[in-house]
Amino acid sequence: MCGIVGYVGQEKAAPILLEGLTKLEYRGYDSAGLAVRDGNGPVRIVKAKGRIEVLRQKTDGGQSLIGTTGIGHTRWATHGEPSELNSHPHTSDDGNVVAVHNGIIENYQELKEKLIRNGYAFQTQTDTEVVVKLIDYYYKKYNLGPVDALAKTMVRVRGSYALAVLFKDYPGEIWAARKDSPMIIGVGDHASYIASDVPAILSYTRDVYYIGNLEMACIDENGARFFNLDGDQIEKEVTTIQWDAEAAEKGGFQHFMMKEIHEQPKAVADTLHSVVHDGVIQLVPEISDELIRSIDQMYIVACGSAYHVGMAMQYVLEDLTGLPVRVELASEFRYRSMYLSPNGLVVIISQSGETADSLAALREAKERGVKTLAIVNTVGSSIAREADAVFYTLAGPEIAVATTKAYSAQLIAGYVLAIQFAKVRGTIDEAQYTAYIQELETLPDKIVRILEDKERLQWFASKFASARDIFFIGRGIDYAIAMEGSLKCKEISYIHSEAYAAGELKHGTISLIEDGTLVLGSLTQSGLYEKTLSNMVECKARGAYLAGLTTNGHYEIEDTVDFTIYVPRTDEHFTTSLAVVPLQLIGYYISVARGLDVDKPRNLAKSVTVE
Ligand code: G6P
Repeated sequence: MCGIVGYVGQEKAAPILLEGLTKLEYRGYDSAGLAVRDGNGPVRIVKAKGRIEVLRQKTDGGQSLIGTTGIGHTRWATHGEPSELNSHPHTSDDGNVVAVHNGIIENYQELKEKLIRNGYAFQTQTDTEVVVKLIDYYYKKYNLGPVDALAKTMVRVRGSYALAVLFKDYPGEIWAARKDSPMIIGVGDHASYIASDVPAILSYTRDVYYIGNLEMACIDENGARFFNLDGDQIEKEVTTIQWDAEAAEKGGFQHFMMKEIHEQPKAVADTLHSVVHDGVIQLVPEISDELIRSIDQMYIVACGSAYHVGMAMQYVLEDLTGLPVRVELASEFRYRSMYLSPNGLVVIISQSGETADSLAALREAKERGVKTLAIVNTVGSSIAREADAVFYTLAGPEIAVATTKAYSAQLIAGYVLAIQFAKVRGTIDEAQYTAYIQELETLPDKIVRILEDKERLQWFASKFASARDIFFIGRGIDYAIAMEGSLKCKEISYIHSEAYAAGELKHGTISLIEDGTLVLGSLTQSGLYEKTLSNMVECKARGAYLAGLTTNGHYEIEDTVDFTIYVPRTDEHFTTSLAVVPLQLIGYYISVARGLDVDKPRNLAKSVTVE
């Protein structure tokens, strides 16, 4: 949440910062700002409410800001409304300290009072202004340099933060500090960068350092130095990012979301082929056969769409392995004193690897002595670094706030785990193992086939672009599909929608069905097909317009429903991978038909690094 970029080098900083912020706009986009400094001169700050474009216009594409050192920020408001005043950078009254911040300072109120007692005044409602002034306070009171002033501040504040700071006495340097909010450093030829996410700097450098929790860094045009909380300099290894810079561009599509929907066959194939070689699954050594045999309970913990992956995985894992599986929302899991089996395995699923609740759930599980496995897309992210074992999905950078390809890659990872666990635990035989893997291999092509027929869905979506409510229903795996379909639809179309277990509708929700209400039933599981269809008919009797999503061959469904969506047949464990694609497309087309900002829906952010 919130995007940070910093640059120090020999070029004009502002245009580089603006470009970086544009790449990070998916992290927050209600206001933005820049602070740029020319040599020893004063820092110039420009802020704008609204999208980066407004800031770009205000600064003539950055040309009006002279200077080769600067920091920038795009905001997702936590404390204080989105406004020019509350937007970052924030500064101490005399400009001694200027900073941008990502995260939340939990004890900001108490710190603010302390600073007011010490003569500080506050202009904004933000927690960031408090941190900036606290750094300034320690810097001056104890006559400290940046490392110690930052370290003292870090000890005093509670919460999460990634900070990029300019100190008046240290021209040509940008200082950084982080705890629980992502921040990386990039190094290039006579230039260094700070960013909250890799895409911001990918067109300048691929050589990055990860700043650890409770660590600090200083960059200048010659490179980066790192420090621990004691102020000791520490060594770090540079990581080379393999992502293609092109991957973070729209590549001819109107929106990132559509581009990413079309990248799903590749994301699925790449993830699969990273662990399946010559028809055999080879997981990282940490997920050993010994570990797999020792497990007696699985807990899948995640947020948002990653949680929906967990829901789909649950059915597959339980069916193939016989293991009991619980799926928990990370924000709930972390505050529950739930019994965790000592031989349990906690699986955290996260695209960003930085979601605050998922990270906290991981730490909670580790503290309680339970083994952890993370399914993560972002290399080197906090969750990836802290989990006992990591299964990387290879979806590449995902920019649209509404996830598509990362979700699909996570699903494949889940299926692979289920198959491998079942094989090692002896609940499937060699022939089944081979057949399941062969079936997974067919999924990318089947997704391509669904995408070839997308225009039909565009017509359907435009018909419901002004709907008031949409209901997605299903049973078993189809319920998990409905959950993701409903989320995709509501988050980008702003139409109220609900996912319901089809059999549960009659216990209350059916009272919301009116003439013309769209009920979209997912019917990919043959054992539950007729049951769900009956529930749909109950809705039709109350005036609903029925759409049925099923697999090729079930053509008799046309006798009952008003609109049909067919996906290719596959093993029924894996239908989520196919059925989700038309639902993503429907959400997308409704959003476009309503003229909304598909890639940056209101009030949301891609990487949710606050609780
Ligand atoms: C945000 C995103 C969702 C995502 C969720 C979890 O809400 O908009 O698309 O599913 O966070 O994110 P994660 O990075 O942990 O998968």
